[in-house]
Amino acid sequence: MGQLIAGNWKMNGLLAEAMALAKAIANGAGGLACDLLVCPPATVIRPVGGALAGTPVAVGGQDCHAAVKGAHTGDLAAAMLRDAGACWVILGHSERRTDHGETDAQVAAKVAAAVAAGLTPIVCVGETEAERLAGRQEAVVGTQLAGSLPGDFAGVVAYEPVWAIGTGRTPTEADVAAMHVFIRAVLLRRLGPSGQAVRILYGGSVNPGNAVALMGLPEVGGALVGGASLVAANFLEIARAAR
Ligand code: 13P
Repeated sequence: MGQLIAGNWKMNGLLAEAMALAKAIANGAGGLACDLLVCPPATVIRPVGGALAGTPVAVGGQDCHAAVKGAHTGDLAAAMLRDAGACWVILGHSERRTDHGETDAQVAAKVAAAVAAGLTPIVCVGETEAERLAGRQEAVVGTQLAGSLPGDFAGVVAYEPVWAIGTGRTPTEADVAAMHVFIRAVLLRRLGPSGQAVRILYGGSVNPGNAVALMGLPEVGGALVGGASLVAANFLEIARAAR
């Protein structure tokens, strides 16, 4: 399985700029060894998906509600994302966990809803700086995985240390490798042999300058890219670093 390079556009992208970014990415996406995904704001999933139809670039959402439908003002059901053209969805991002108080149990319920709607979930986990300084990163990530993933999970996990997101700081290569090896062991224990098929992305200040080193580390199955995914040339250079 090739690596997955996913762009999380977060809350960036009015229609015109989203379309220009999508088209620029699609123009450079030919002949790459990796899988490519962009996750724009929900308001532009349909037009971005239209612009990317027939290209190797897939489209995903950034969150969904756990319920199929109902009285949840401002929320989006997984089937709505699917209906708009998304095939993937990011769940449990640290910004959702912080801004909206999302718990592991809520993330697990969203994973089930996403799978039921035909979306592939990308479940985010990662420790804060205080937790890493206390040496608790594996305990924290282990708890998040145990609480956020169903026993038959068949999506993607993204390891995103909270302190590395948008800061220009990354863990050392040894620390990234150690965490990814730890996550693989947890997945194998939890899911059995199918835990081997779950790609484990690294996210947090991935850029064209560090992508080759990060993508070469053991058990790194790709990248979840924030800021650098908003510039097509940078996103494509990261994709060229992938296997
Ligand atoms: P940055 O790449 O901007 O650090 O963001 C990472 C992230 O949160 C991707 O989901």
